[in-house]
Amino acid sequence: MMWMAGSPLLRAQEVLGDTRDRFPPLEDLVNVFEFEPILKSKVPKNNYDFIAGGVDAEWTLRRNRESFDRITFRPRFMRDVSKMDVSTELFGQKISMPILIAPTAGHQLAHEQGELATARGAGQMQTIMAVSTNSSYPIDKIGAAATGPLWFQLYVGPDWEGTQERVERAVGAGCKAVCITVDSAYNSHRERLLRNRSSAGPVAVPGPGGGRRRAQPREPLPYKLQAQFTANLTWSFLDEINKYAKVPVLIKGILTAEDAKLAVDRGAAGVVVSNHGGRYLEYAPSTIEVLPEIVEAVGGKIPVLIDSGFRRGTDILKALAIGAKAVLVGRPPLWGLGAYGEAGVAKVLELLQSELALAMGLTGAANLAAIDRKLVRIDAR
Ligand code: FNR
Ligand code: LAC
Repeated sequence: MMWMAGSPLLRAQEVLGDTRDRFPPLEDLVNVFEFEPILKSKVPKNNYDFIAGGVDAEWTLRRNRESFDRITFRPRFMRDVSKMDVSTELFGQKISMPILIAPTAGHQLAHEQGELATARGAGQMQTIMAVSTNSSYPIDKIGAAATGPLWFQLYVGPDWEGTQERVERAVGAGCKAVCITVDSAYNSHRERLLRNRSSAGPVAVPGPGGGRRRAQPREPLPYKLQAQFTANLTWSFLDEINKYAKVPVLIKGILTAEDAKLAVDRGAAGVVVSNHGGRYLEYAPSTIEVLPEIVEAVGGKIPVLIDSGFRRGTDILKALAIGAKAVLVGRPPLWGLGAYGEAGVAKVLELLQSELALAMGLTGAANLAAIDRKLVRIDAR
């Protein structure tokens, strides 16, 4: 670039200001949405599209947000909310908020420091980060960098035999729970990525253990389906993993009362109501709209967690009122990570935490125990 130093064009840019690389100070951001365009401007288009995108025409992705609009609060007043406490506890682990980082693949797509920075950001805010099977860094490294509690998200297979080893390695690295993702038997059509393919090439999603996933030579499947990780997974796997896991095992991706009941009966320690952030089954319902039937089916026997589309403290309070124990957020911490690294992750969590506290304070709930089903009204469509 030195040879350009005397160029009139460059000087003009310096004088007028090229704002592309200038970002607002972190303290100036007022909500989590504001991190997304900053991440977008910092990473290659393909990486951004991988993070932001959903399946097909992104109906479920949109519905995840729109469904919150059907729910309003029934605030109660004249209650003492002068001392607020949003801390909670999950499987014996004290955390500062009922907000966790959802497992998402390949954090290096957002930031060089990847999961190491995310884990430290979560640690700063004293909450749990769930680490994806497809993390950019190996689980041991993330465990060593972490300053707060970790969970491990498990994709069973493609090497079924390697599963036990992977779980034991994660538990050895300090993971306090395992979350089996069950909603993604086949690769879905991420149309943004399919379109980009011709111009930018596919996104290299990191494989388990930090290596780039090598394309396995596989028999082509009928209908051009691409088997993902879990195409042959059934409930009996839960019996198997419960024998060796040594930590609570949750099922992530539940969307019906029937499956929630099966999860309880088959010995899951918890369920995560999730449509994978609108990334697999198009026309999957939003999670907040199926939460009531799932909470009812589970009947308090195991904790019900939820993710997909949570962006505001009020969204989180709605889920807690319906009976969720905690909420996971997927994209917002990645936005924070890509935009500002570790500090951005912490800030995203802090914004959500303080928005939740405010919403609770204004509805008359000084702590999580004070939140109940009567706090929300769900409008018929
Ligand atoms: C995901 N998700 C996900 N889930 C999982 O079990 N294993 C994974 O490796 C990934 N990878 C992944 C990558 C990216 C970029 C995204 C956005 C999501 C799904 C994730 O755990 C969670 O269910 C959703 O992200 C929740 O929706 P929001 O918060 O992103 O709207
Ligand atoms: C995804 C996979 C990696 O959502 O879970 O892209």
